[in-house]
Amino acid sequence: MLPDDVDLTTVVGDAHLLNPVMTASGCAAAGRELHQFFDVAELGAVVTKSIMREARSGRPTPRMVETPSGMLNSIGLQGPGIDSFLARDLPWLLQQGARPIVSIAGSSLGEYAELARRVGNTPGIAAVEVNISCPNVENRGLVFACDPVQASRAVNVVRRDTPRGVPVLAKLSPDVTSIVEIATAVVEAGADGVVLINTLLGLHIDLETARPTLAGVTGGLSGPGVRPVAVRAVWQVANALPAVPVIGVGGIRTGRDALEFMFAGATAVQVGTAIFNDPGAPVRVLRELRAELATRGFAKASDAVGYANRPIPSRRQDV
Ligand code: DHB
Repeated sequence: MLPDDVDLTTVVGDAHLLNPVMTASGCAAAGRELHQFFDVAELGAVVTKSIMREARSGRPTPRMVETPSGMLNSIGLQGPGIDSFLARDLPWLLQQGARPIVSIAGSSLGEYAELARRVGNTPGIAAVEVNISCPNVENRGLVFACDPVQASRAVNVVRRDTPRGVPVLAKLSPDVTSIVEIATAVVEAGADGVVLINTLLGLHIDLETARPTLAGVTGGLSGPGVRPVAVRAVWQVANALPAVPVIGVGGIRTGRDALEFMFAGATAVQVGTAIFNDPGAPVRVLRELRAELATRGFAKASDAVGYANRPIPSRRQDV
């Protein structure tokens, strides 16, 4: 099998994508800054930084600290707000021929609903990703994804106010006792797929000042160090809810990492933190994934989804 012969087309609910590789939310604003490194239309989708109703300057600095095999950040949902996003950023992505998945974040159900209406009615978007799991909000009560009732309420209003035909994907937090319980709740509330995982809540102390390093005190942990947590979450949810598309994200740096997520049950994958030291990472991961699939004789990327979970052929018993 030659890499160019592998069929990479990917279906996530009603979204038909060229391939299963996306950017992860928050790692490249609305994609414009990546365009100097590669053509954003080459990716399955470009997931934007979570957009809120109002423009926000985010948290004070320092906002980022490196950790072994990862990074901790507390940006505080900095962004231009929905008016500017719809006027400037989304049209640019659409002009490039990219398939945008717009991440939305609200601090109330009303805000989620309004964002869903405004984003969902823009022609050309591939899906809405509902960020109910940002770790850097004013209080933990606002991390809707930590509670099944709160999570389902947020997803319910977004699904209600997003036009049919536009998939609603819920991005969940790994900082819960049972990710399957939360995933089940959001699917019952209308989510067409789940994105696993958002960052883990972490803390770093500066030994010189004897104070937390980040101005926001705690932050979200991402990068290769979180990958086994993400693969575990994908595996658990894909097994519990086999009909639901799962998008895997967490520490993907190579095509082999992407394939690991697909074998665990991910229909598609997102590349995030790797972008900060290799802005071309998403297209490189796509190229490498294609080669990894070809080497293993997969004619279709979709055949690899959940491959690690197929029944083990029964061994011939010695008599
Ligand atoms: C933000 C940071 C994160 O690590 C995350 O997962 C989501 C949002 C932020 O502070 O903007």
